[in-house]
Amino acid sequence: MLTGLLIKNIKCLVQTEDKPVFKVCGKYMSELGIITDAFLYITNGLISDFGDMKDLVSLNLPVNPSQTETIDASGRFVFPSFCDSHTHIVYAGSREQEFTGKIRGLSYEEIARRGGGILNSARILHETSEDELYSQSMTRINEVIGMGTGAIEIKSGYGLNIQDELKMLRVIRKIRSDSPVEVRSTFLGAHAVPSEYKNNRDKYVDIIINEMIPVIATEDLADYIDVFCDDGFFSVDDTERILMAGLKYGLTAKIHANELGYSGGIQTGIKYGALSVDHLECTGDAEISALLGTDTMPTLLPGSAFFLGLPDPPARKMIDAGLPLALASDYNPGSSPSGNMKLIMSLGCIKLKMVPEEVINAVTINSAYAMGLSETHGSIARGKVANVFITKEIPSYEFMPYAFGSDLIETIILKGRICPPALLPWHPPAPLKGG
Ligand code: NIG
Ligand code: FE
Repeated sequence: MLTGLLIKNIKCLVQTEDKPVFKVCGKYMSELGIITDAFLYITNGLISDFGDMKDLVSLNLPVNPSQTETIDASGRFVFPSFCDSHTHIVYAGSREQEFTGKIRGLSYEEIARRGGGILNSARILHETSEDELYSQSMTRINEVIGMGTGAIEIKSGYGLNIQDELKMLRVIRKIRSDSPVEVRSTFLGAHAVPSEYKNNRDKYVDIIINEMIPVIATEDLADYIDVFCDDGFFSVDDTERILMAGLKYGLTAKIHANELGYSGGIQTGIKYGALSVDHLECTGDAEISALLGTDTMPTLLPGSAFFLGLPDPPARKMIDAGLPLALASDYNPGSSPSGNMKLIMSLGCIKLKMVPEEVINAVTINSAYAMGLSETHGSIARGKVANVFITKEIPSYEFMPYAFGSDLIETIILKGRICPPALLPWHPPAPLKGG
């Protein structure tokens, strides 16, 4: 049985850490550990060692040829897998009709007011069986694995009643046990107000607090709790009540904040010790100073700002003020129907004016932090989980965000194992021989 994996002749090993940190902030975001002409040695699913090729022989690694598979990565780069710390990848159906509505001029809030949006997805999910929901979601999970994602946070929030929220959370749990990707689960009962509580939002918040949270916590179905704290959705008061109830049950907050307005969501998240506050299109000086010196990771979702045509958050100003930033995909059917983290890197550079080193930190170590995983994921460090990918032949690491439409990932390794191409159904079939 093979137990080790040696990747040698790596043109460049990216995001290496000799002294691992939990996150990188401000000017340190533009620093990136790299080793050219490198090796990476993996045993029992963990990163055992890495370094210069010239040191490989003298290191005398216990490489037993019969138990070690070797990959020659000449001309190729090795990156730690992406950590996607904010997704809604478990959903049923799709919403391309709303996409057309948006092209014709309807806003995201307008679509929601007309009963579309999140409520539309909730209706479809209600009519979809748990098995079918699992199968649709697994297709997307395999899709993002093939695009380099090795850890993913998944939210509920298209149930909006106890049965359907539990259905979503059970699907997330099953993905966590069946898939090689690392999964963290977030309860987002407060994603939208169901139409029957349209004029009685307090009642729905009561149900979340008194009925949903206790069951979900008792069944250990969620790691985190989320609220869409924004104009037209949940207020600061609602958010405080829900986060307080979550904390009582040991659920740390990760919240949607300041996407549609200066909602006070950022300050509320910080007040309740949120691990991350996400979206942040509406971030001003007050929000930046509130975030400085806290343990809350500001997380930007440039896929949804791009898809909805929202003004971009002031990423440059935030980094220059000394803040850390994480980037995530927000993969969902309404505002970001893509989980392509390489594209997210490109949007980080092009739209948010982050340099390549900053976006690489933002989609690896900082997004690992935003899902409570930076001790074990998010960089090439000894003892961390061996989630990495090998690129095709590329000239530089900057080429990854630069070539924004190209599929540049060749080999996926999760938990130390090469993912079989069968797991990645979108890969083109091998060319026919003799054809
Ligand atoms: O993060 N902003 C709230 N929730 C999702 C959108 C969900 C949907 O439209 O289905 C988001 O953008
Ligand atoms: Fe979201």
